[in-house]
Amino acid sequence: GAAIPFYGEHQAGIVTPAQDRLHFVAFDVITDKKEDLVELLQKWTMAAARMTAGKDAGSIGAVNGAPEAAPDDTGEALGLPPSGLTLTIGFGPTLFRDAEGRDRFGIADKRPPALADLPRFAKDALKPEISGGDLCVQACAHDPQVAVHAVRNLARIGFGVVSVRWSQLGFGRTSSTSRSQTTARNLFGFKDGTANLKAEDTKLLQEQLWVQPGDGPDWMTGGSYVVTRKIRMLIETWDRTSLGEQETIIGRDKGEGAPLGKSKEFDEPVFAAVGSDGEPAIAMDSHVRLAHPDFNNGARLLRRGYNFVDGSDGLGRLDAGLFFIAYQRDPRKQFVPMQTQLARQDALNEYIRHVSSGLFACPSGIKAADDYWGRALF
Ligand code: HEM
Repeated sequence: GAAIPFYGEHQAGIVTPAQDRLHFVAFDVITDKKEDLVELLQKWTMAAARMTAGKDAGSIGAVNGAPEAAPDDTGEALGLPPSGLTLTIGFGPTLFRDAEGRDRFGIADKRPPALADLPRFAKDALKPEISGGDLCVQACAHDPQVAVHAVRNLARIGFGVVSVRWSQLGFGRTSSTSRSQTTARNLFGFKDGTANLKAEDTKLLQEQLWVQPGDGPDWMTGGSYVVTRKIRMLIETWDRTSLGEQETIIGRDKGEGAPLGKSKEFDEPVFAAVGSDGEPAIAMDSHVRLAHPDFNNGARLLRRGYNFVDGSDGLGRLDAGLFFIAYQRDPRKQFVPMQTQLARQDALNEYIRHVSSGLFACPSGIKAADDYWGRALF
């Protein structure tokens, strides 16, 4: 239940050991006035610093204000500990130039080249109403009520300046982002996050996660780009697939999570190995082969996704899957080529559908109480 520091070199919620719960929200900015947007970002920063410390969103609090005024906190987190809450902000491509091509806030020239719109990938089935957004906030916590409370209060504070475009709840982190964590499982029953970038990989994090000086505009130095993909998993079809076939598709065994042909979870996969049938031990079209750095120019991701179950779909099937979240230094060199390859060849595609997509530039951390989200940008 402890608090995670809000201030720091990098934003919390990226290499922070993945909490159990997620509420991810994307907003549209509904004003053209830069001052209003900046003022909101200042208010949000203050509220975020308070809420991540386990306090009410506003300084008066949920129940201490005047009876005739709406409270400056909604109250449902009263009495709850900070629960490891992190709030991570990102700026979407449409903040720099909207769908009509307008540069509403005079920041188009500060758009990082790495924040290039994602291409359309093979088999994409994206719904625009749950994709994109001008801003995003990723709220992670060990208690769903704490994460929802944070998002709700940011939306409340943003009334008249932003409107919620879409949001997603998630549970059961599908990745570990630190070696101190055991690997959790996704809804296909497989360990997910084994070969992830981890907080301890400091050198790799500089190469693959954090934007370095000279990569693009200075305001993003020390930040990272996040790609979100809501991936529906066709659970019922998967559940009728044999264990052997499931393992072949992933390229790892289901119990231990070891690469096929090896015995332990953290053994390195040997892609050249051949089984007794003369076929590669790890199939050419398996997910881990196609996603592995050896077949992606060395590119890696810091995955931080969550399972979701949004009830059932009215046809007797679970409306469930993976809310994929991946942080990286440059999506043009990491997510985009990797997903291009996966979308064409991955054996997993028969069992999944990408239904939403998001891309956001997450600046570096807030260093002091007088700093605010996006100050370097505006
Ligand atoms: C690895 C599942 C989507 C990138 C894995 C592993 C599993 C898995 C079980 C092996 C354990 C591990 O190392 O984490 C899934 C499922 C997906 C999905 C069920 C969709 C519902 C994606 C997408 C990407 C991706 C969209 C990126 C475009 C990776 C990477 C690895 C990985 C980079 C590590 C590969 C390695 O270095 O060995 N995934 N994944 N995955 N996945 Fe996925």
